[in-house]
Amino acid sequence: MKKRIVVFISRQGSNLNAILDNCYQQNGILKDLCEVILVVADRVTAVPGLEKAQHYGIPTKLILKKNYKDNIAFSHELISELAPLYPDYVVLAGFMSILSHDFVKTFRNRILNIHPADPKLYKGPNGYKWAYQQFLPSTKITVQLVEEEVDNGNILAQQEVDLQGVRSLQDVISRGKAVEHQLYSQTLLKIFKNHIPIDNCFQ
Ligand code: GRF
Repeated sequence: MKKRIVVFISRQGSNLNAILDNCYQQNGILKDLCEVILVVADRVTAVPGLEKAQHYGIPTKLILKKNYKDNIAFSHELISELAPLYPDYVVLAGFMSILSHDFVKTFRNRILNIHPADPKLYKGPNGYKWAYQQFLPSTKITVQLVEEEVDNGNILAQQEVDLQGVRSLQDVISRGKAVEHQLYSQTLLKIFKNHIPIDNCFQ
C-alpha cells in the first residue's frame, strides 16, 4: 500500500517540488511507494508551491495563520483538516509555523522536518545564514522527527554539505538545497521501507 503523506509549506517549496517529482515522475525514487494526499500552506508566499501540487492534481489548502487568534486555534484547524485523511506522515518542508502540543500529540512520530543545520549546533530559522556568518567549512542537513520543542526531535538522517570556497550566502543556500532535495526523499524512502524504525502508533 502506498504511504499517504501531507506536505506543509510556507515559502517557495523547492523541497515540495523535489518530493513531488520523486513521487510522480517516471524515474522518481518514491514512485509507487507514496502519494501526496494534500499540500497545506500557512501564508501566501507559498502559493507557487501550491500551484505546482495542483499541476499534479493534488488537493491544496491555504490556511492563513494570520487569520487565527493564536497558534492553538491555528493548529486545531490543521488537526481538523488532517485527522479525517489519516495521513501516514506529515512532512514539513520549509513550514515556518510552530505546531501546537495537541498537533504533535495527535500525529506523534509521524511528523518529519528538514533543518538546514545540525540541530545540536544550531536550532531555529536562518541556518544557512548562521553557517555563512560563522565561516563554517561544512554544515549538516538534518531530517528529524518533530517534537514540541523546536528542532529537538530524534534525528533520522544527516548529510554534510561542503562549504569550502563559498562566496555568498546564496552559494551556501544553493549547495545546501541541492543536498536537501536528495536527502529528504531518500530518507522518506528508507522510512517507507522500514529501514529507519519509527514508532508508528497514534497516541
Ligand atoms: C529549507 O532550507 C529547509 O531546510 C528549511 O526551510 C527551507 C525551505 O525551502 N526548513 P523550500 O521552501 O523547500 O525551498
